Amino acid sequence: MAAAGGAVGLGNIWRFPTETAENGGAAFLFVYVICCFLIGLPVMVAELSLGRATQRNAVGAFNALSKNPIYQAVGFWGVICGSMILSFYVVIAGWSFSNVFVEIFDYVGMTGPATTLVDTSNGVVNILFAALFMVATIFIVRGGVSEGIERATKTMMPLLLVMLLVLIGLTLPMEGAADGVKAYLQPDFSQIDRELILYALGQSFFSLSLGLGALITYGSYLSKSDNVVQSAAIVTLSDVSIAFIAGLLIIPAIYVAQAQGIQVFDDAGSLIAGPALIFNILPVVFDNIGGIFGLGLAVTFFLLLSVAALTSTISLLEVSVSYVIDEFNVARNTATWLMGGVIGTIAIWVSFDLGMIDILDTVFSAYGLPIGGLLISLFVGWVWKTPAAMEELKHGFPSFENSFFQKVWPLFIRFICPILIFLILLDLVTG
Ligand code: TRP
Repeated sequence: MAAAGGAVGLGNIWRFPTETAENGGAAFLFVYVICCFLIGLPVMVAELSLGRATQRNAVGAFNALSKNPIYQAVGFWGVICGSMILSFYVVIAGWSFSNVFVEIFDYVGMTGPATTLVDTSNGVVNILFAALFMVATIFIVRGGVSEGIERATKTMMPLLLVMLLVLIGLTLPMEGAADGVKAYLQPDFSQIDRELILYALGQSFFSLSLGLGALITYGSYLSKSDNVVQSAAIVTLSDVSIAFIAGLLIIPAIYVAQAQGIQVFDDAGSLIAGPALIFNILPVVFDNIGGIFGLGLAVTFFLLLSVAALTSTISLLEVSVSYVIDEFNVARNTATWLMGGVIGTIAIWVSFDLGMIDILDTVFSAYGLPIGGLLISLFVGWVWKTPAAMEELKHGFPSFENSFFQKVWPLFIRFICPILIFLILLDLVTG
């Protein structure tokens, strides 16, 4: 449950719908789901088992299994990607939280403050809320991964799901929503091209928290009686479901906003709003609902989204913090403030130059995470070797020997996953 909660975040509710809207709707959804189960799930099993076998963090796990220092590069790449992703993630998380206040100010008629806060191009406001998020993350990571946040995750995630379902029920009858449902669920396979596949793969890694060793840490918290394969399957299934359901709200909401005269796409069919998309269109839905009920829904939704984002910023910061603790023998407190400070500084830059979000996101999520996943697959498949990994997987999985999984996983982690990722990265699938 905790791992599932950690995987659910802005990736599901902000990034997935935005990528889907930008990359051809249903065709993107189709390729995304395939990527999650065909590539993401086997890699998740690899990360979790690495963590449980070594009882180490994202960098230490590689050191524990091989004396060859070159493999530390895999962990190091994860640290870089995690830090760069976090530097823009906190800005977007900040928008989730600031929207709570936008809705309230709007409701009570304080249009001045509402207009200031709603403006995502206001660097100072961006920094303020990003800093708030960073500091909250630092305080939690400083104390080690806290039980409190785990407990919060367990209650918040089902609530978030209920919230999404309620909002879908209210949005679908609105004018324009039907066009959105069509765009989301009626695939036009001719739209599948190189870019779509690459971004769907990147999205699957982003949403499942794969490719930078974050789940190695989670694996180290699993006990020998836990079934790693089953856990990975549950996390993947619930994460994909939440993304799918979020899409069912956001994509129709885009068309509702459009029906009300808000221009969402430019003439070329690209999104105008870019990364701020969901924060531009969701308020339209809440407005349509209206009254104190609309306000209540809006405030609850953005609060839940903020908590979901917080569990993700924690896992992103933890990767670099545990690296610094391990490699440089620094106390946790110092390491957390240090890495939080460095990443926060990059976030200041992002706050003023929102174009950086797209650049960092493309380099470190769309390319960086699959590269990390490729290296992790190769490490587990060929360095640690699958027989050793499978010895680990047997714990907590009594029927492992006769399972379908036992037959196919080695094949996936040694050949299918690395080859597919490689082909997609090099643009050799569609030619
Ligand atoms: N999966 C999270 C989300 O959907 C983001 C995230 C948290 C992440 N930890 C990660 C992404 C590690 C990649 C790697 O919002």
